[in-house]
Amino acid sequence: MARLPGPGLIGLPAAGVAGMRRPHELARDLYRRYGHVVRLGLGPASYVYLFGRSANEIILSDRPDSFTWYEAMRVLEPINGPTALVLTDGEDHRRRRRIVQPAFATRRIDSAVPVIVEEVDATIDALVPGTTVDLYSLYRRTVRRIVVRVLFGESLARHADALGEVLEPAIRFVDRPPQFQFRGAPGSGASRRARRAADRVVDAEIARRRGSGDRGNDVLGMLLDTDLGDAELRDQVVSLIAAGYDTTSAAVAWTLLELLRTPYEWERSRDDVTDRLGAGCRVPDGDDLRALNYVSAAVNEALRLWPPASLSGRRASDAFTYEGQLIPAGSIVVFSPFVTQRLPELWGPDADSFRPERWLEHEPEPFSFIPFGGPYRRCLGFALALTEIQVAITRLLQRTTLTLVDAQREIRGTGLSALRPEGGVRVRVGSVL
Ligand code: HEM
Repeated sequence: MARLPGPGLIGLPAAGVAGMRRPHELARDLYRRYGHVVRLGLGPASYVYLFGRSANEIILSDRPDSFTWYEAMRVLEPINGPTALVLTDGEDHRRRRRIVQPAFATRRIDSAVPVIVEEVDATIDALVPGTTVDLYSLYRRTVRRIVVRVLFGESLARHADALGEVLEPAIRFVDRPPQFQFRGAPGSGASRRARRAADRVVDAEIARRRGSGDRGNDVLGMLLDTDLGDAELRDQVVSLIAAGYDTTSAAVAWTLLELLRTPYEWERSRDDVTDRLGAGCRVPDGDDLRALNYVSAAVNEALRLWPPASLSGRRASDAFTYEGQLIPAGSIVVFSPFVTQRLPELWGPDADSFRPERWLEHEPEPFSFIPFGGPYRRCLGFALALTEIQVAITRLLQRTTLTLVDAQREIRGTGLSALRPEGGVRVRVGSVL
């Protein structure tokens, strides 16, 4: 490989340790030290980080076969299974995406709003005034139940908590840096057992539906009517659950954290909700959520500062040039929404501040805001995720008063499978309506 800027052999151990818990901070540090193109690691185990808006554009919108996913994403295989969308390329990917995409149509998501509200309300009903709770852990479970219920129906939803608990060891395993995910590494056995346990739950449901002849009118029913084989079907179900809750619950947590710790932002968001829905607790529908401009701006702003998918990667099929450097064919290239979305040249001198108003002032430039990737392999679940985050925030604004515990503490993110707030979101519950 050509000599590209980077920490080399000497800087590698320090970078490895830094990247273990905070790969997003390591990426930003590499950018600050070495610039737009950085090589990390040696030989075939190395990564080429490409920073900047045009790097995102090249990687995300070039011909589908120029940058492939499998080699870069295979760390997700223990949880997602080999035929999951995120692990496939070429014709297989196009076929599976065509089959799964209708599950996320706007009218389907709109019709799921009552279920989302019901689950969010059940979490709020359980809050006890005067106690301190971690809203991140609570909402992680809530979001998991929502994803299972909305996509796969009531019967699988009865197993949502159990399914989530069995998947957790697999999620913890894929949360590690790739070099610690080899077969036989501590945790790899537990992660394979976790996936097998999840498969048993999903297989039982598939068999029940096939046996009863009632396929159901949810997404699982829709997938049962396609030509997906059983293993493919199971991989799509488990991987959609995993893709759906780790990321979305982190985004809910970050939005809450920023709204509660930034002066006046909770009140401004509540005014937005009251203007549209009145002072009571009227339940929002899809149109209401789309009309909440300030809440949407706050959600975007949290996704900008704390994108749950803080980094992603591809394998470059061909050699190409970026910022005057030749990137060889076969390189695993890494790009970072986290780094891009805080660049002062794109977001101004207050790029690191939480300021929802910026979304009401102007649109971001293309490829400067990419929390859901884009364009041709954009996140399939983005509309569902945004709806869940908005409902979670809106109902808390309508129904509770909350005070952030340790509001002065510096907040830091951690995690690779999803960037989440270290220490969660601990709040003191005031009142609950
Ligand atoms: C805030 C929440 C979410 C975030 C930040 C997020 C982020 C992303 C990103 C960045 C990608 C593309 C990765 C890349 O280009 O390398 C992606 C892909 C994907 N996401 Fe999400 N996601 C979220 C929620 C969801 C949900 C709720 C689901 C489904 C239940 C989902 C399903 C998928 C799928 C299936 C893909 C692969 C698409 C393909 O390969 O064609 N995501 N997501």
